[in-house]
Amino acid sequence: MPIRACIFDAYGTLFDFAAAAASCRDVLGERAGALAALWRDKQIQYTWLRSMQHRHADLWQITGDSLDYALETLGVEAPGLRQRLMDLYRTLTVFPEVPETLRLLRASGLKTAILSNGTPAMLASAVAANQLGSLFDAVVSVEEVGVFKPDPRVYQHALARLGVTAQEVFFQSSNSWDAYAASAFGMRVVWCNRYAQKPERLPGKPDHVISSLAELPQLIVAAGRTAAL
Ligand code: LAC
Repeated sequence: MPIRACIFDAYGTLFDFAAAAASCRDVLGERAGALAALWRDKQIQYTWLRSMQHRHADLWQITGDSLDYALETLGVEAPGLRQRLMDLYRTLTVFPEVPETLRLLRASGLKTAILSNGTPAMLASAVAANQLGSLFDAVVSVEEVGVFKPDPRVYQHALARLGVTAQEVFFQSSNSWDAYAASAFGMRVVWCNRYAQKPERLPGKPDHVISSLAELPQLIVAAGRTAAL
């Protein structure tokens, strides 16, 4: 069955979540990496925990809560730093290969979309800041469902928004748990393993593993799933 759409996770896959802390190295110094990692880990944990408790809060609130936790844990206090990091998170930089990859995919007739835990406002500002607006057919937020990934209803919702079946999409995520869950749901999955993580011991199995999205167009051609790009 030919593929008709490529759906992308946002944070860590298209946008570099570590860019915010890296931009504050003047204040954070050597702690920038540790802050980025703890902030991200806690943010993701809070999405899962809130989903399990049926106590949803949107990713903007969770991003602030997890930042507060990380700053306190690392003992970082600096005037204006929290606001600066949150402002930067709205406009995270895109990984360098992303715009050209999207252009190639679209030129071959594939639909492209984002499916993210981010709020519509967070996603709109990141897309706009990186001038990607014309490169997506849809930007789908889990807020349309009211629960976070990896709830299967979220993946189902993205298919409905695009009018495609699970077997007609390639889903790309750098988040291993997201990639495995989308695979278990039934999508064809490309795990963009930017962070060189080990395979998960979870349901699902990504169909392909790449280290950069620049590998994606060729991979789709090799899989024989669309006309030449
Ligand atoms: C997202 C997170 C999981 O964009 O990266 O949904």
